[in-house]
Amino acid sequence: MKHSVKLRKPLLKQLKADNLKGRIIKSQSIWVRIFHWGFAISLVVIISTGLQLHKPAHFLALNFSKVLVAHIVFSWFALSFLALRFTDALIRKDDSLIPKIRDLKHFPKLMAYYFFLRSSPPPARKYNSGQLVIYFSWFLVFLLASFLGLASYWQGEHLIWVWHLVGGFQMIRWIKFIISIYFLATIPVHIYLSLTEDISRLQAMVTGYERKPPMKNESKNFPRIK
Ligand code: HEM
Repeated sequence: MKHSVKLRKPLLKQLKADNLKGRIIKSQSIWVRIFHWGFAISLVVIISTGLQLHKPAHFLALNFSKVLVAHIVFSWFALSFLALRFTDALIRKDDSLIPKIRDLKHFPKLMAYYFFLRSSPPPARKYNSGQLVIYFSWFLVFLLASFLGLASYWQGEHLIWVWHLVGGFQMIRWIKFIISIYFLATIPVHIYLSLTEDISRLQAMVTGYERKPPMKNESKNFPRIK
């Protein structure tokens, strides 16, 4: 017969505290966190206003020029947050966002893990190969879209060679539209994995600190309890 054991409260408390043990380590600097949330909010505004400018949803009855101002202002914000992160990386000599060949070699194994064909992810530096590919591509396409944005803002007054290079104004619009779709396809994957993989990494993106699991031997006196 199955018995459910009722534990005394203080003992239960102690068991729970033991399971919470682990190392708390600092993993995200204040500048990374300011960059992250600033860039994330800016991109949400840029993409939604960009889509509205591309094909206005008339039922929203938004003033076109105000939407354009919001689009441009938040693009400058996003560029500033990116500049902040770039400076921070230079000062701290932080290469955690730069994909290296040895990171990319683990990509097939990482995909096998995401598609439930492996029980554990392959070894990684601060970010895994999938994160590195996505983050790095975001920076590149965001800079490209901003540059094309400047070319269209000046309406052929400056940067006219960019118009010629890509094949005209309509082409600039299409490239920026495709970049928005790329963001729209990848941001939900990023949010989904942040919420489902290791929630303490998300905690670190808010507080700066993440909780690593206890070292071996640290918790051997008590069974794991949830
Ligand atoms: C609710 C929305 C979001 C959540 C919950 C979220 C969560 C996270 C978490 C937890 C990390 C750290 C990953 C790790 O340590 O393994 C991260 C990193 C990152 N996220 Fe997000 N994110 C969100 C939206 C966005 C958006 C919209 C963007 C921009 C398109 C973005 C860009 C990045 C970048 C570039 C990094 C790397 C940070 C660095 O080291 O500088 N995130 N995010």
